[in-house]
Amino acid sequence: MRVQGEAYRTIWPRADGAAATIIDQTKLPHAFVTTDLGTCADAEHAIRAMLVRGAPLIGATAAFGVWLAMRRDASDTALDEAHRLLLAARPTAVNLRWALADMAATLGPLAPSARADAALARAVALADEDAAINAAIGDHGLAVFRERWRAKGERGPLNVLTHCNAGWLATVDWGTALAPIYKAFDAGMPVHVWVDETRPRNQGAALTAWELLNHGVPHHVVVDNAGGHLMRRGQVDLCITGTDRTTAKGDVCNKIGTYLKAVAAADTGVPFYVALPSPTIDWTLDDGDDIPIEERAAEEVTRVTGRTDGGALATVALTPAGSPAANPAFDVTPARLVTGLVTERGVCPASTEGLAALFADRAA
Ligand code: MRU
Repeated sequence: MRVQGEAYRTIWPRADGAAATIIDQTKLPHAFVTTDLGTCADAEHAIRAMLVRGAPLIGATAAFGVWLAMRRDASDTALDEAHRLLLAARPTAVNLRWALADMAATLGPLAPSARADAALARAVALADEDAAINAAIGDHGLAVFRERWRAKGERGPLNVLTHCNAGWLATVDWGTALAPIYKAFDAGMPVHVWVDETRPRNQGAALTAWELLNHGVPHHVVVDNAGGHLMRRGQVDLCITGTDRTTAKGDVCNKIGTYLKAVAAADTGVPFYVALPSPTIDWTLDDGDDIPIEERAAEEVTRVTGRTDGGALATVALTPAGSPAANPAFDVTPARLVTGLVTERGVCPASTEGLAALFADRAA
């Protein structure tokens, strides 16, 4: 996607081959800053501290992290150590495990002398694959949007509600849930997005809003608690979110608060779609409650960072100093609340049969 007229992806190898460059998402929306990852430890830190985030981008960054490790030491021990380090960076998004397994399968059989070049080639290929997958998700999602818009008589904009950031910043390019929004907007369909702020880290208010503004897509940021009200008043035509892990029977684990939106959507008859690239499917799990839920630092709840009117960044306390906070980062939305899964191979019901019909080669 473009930033100030220049095409960007979220991660790319630096031209001199000495680092991978990323967009530091902790600085957005107030500053657009790129930064270099020179070592595997840098990549691990970028994932853990959420300079990069979003399930597909976490996977891509891990792949580049393995390359950075192999540049320094391509021994079996170093390969295992890189795998171990990166895998522990964040527990919920299964793309991390998937990308690391792919890198291990690619590099393991090779002589150490061949590993660094092969790792770079494979990381670049995985990044390209992610961009292509998300573009396809956008096309399939656009068909869903068109149908929904026709159903409302093509009157007014199609009002779409999304949670967290499942845009191009969460992937290598295009995004998952936002890909159909970009495709619809680019095709001339009037679309308007309700952007959940997504406490505590505000990926909606900071990142989704920044992306949509940048692309010119009409939107409003709303507090997380507004969605139910908007749905009851008929101001939402469909919801679409991303997912960090989807089980073989279609349970969906995504940013905390997604479940509540799905409950409200079911109560009000608003279709609730989830967009996902197939590497986000965990074929080893059936039940969403078996997905590990990341617990993050209490400070993300008790404090908030923003820009003052004077232009400086400031972090302020929100809660009484003595109040402890809990910070589960993800929740599970059961398949029964999901209208459809939008994948790179098409749209299917959130069920064992639905996923198996699209991915017969993987489900086995
Ligand atoms: O904690 P984050 O910001 O990594 O969480 C991201 C999400 O929950 C996204 O919705 C999910 O990764 C899908 S992104 C294409």
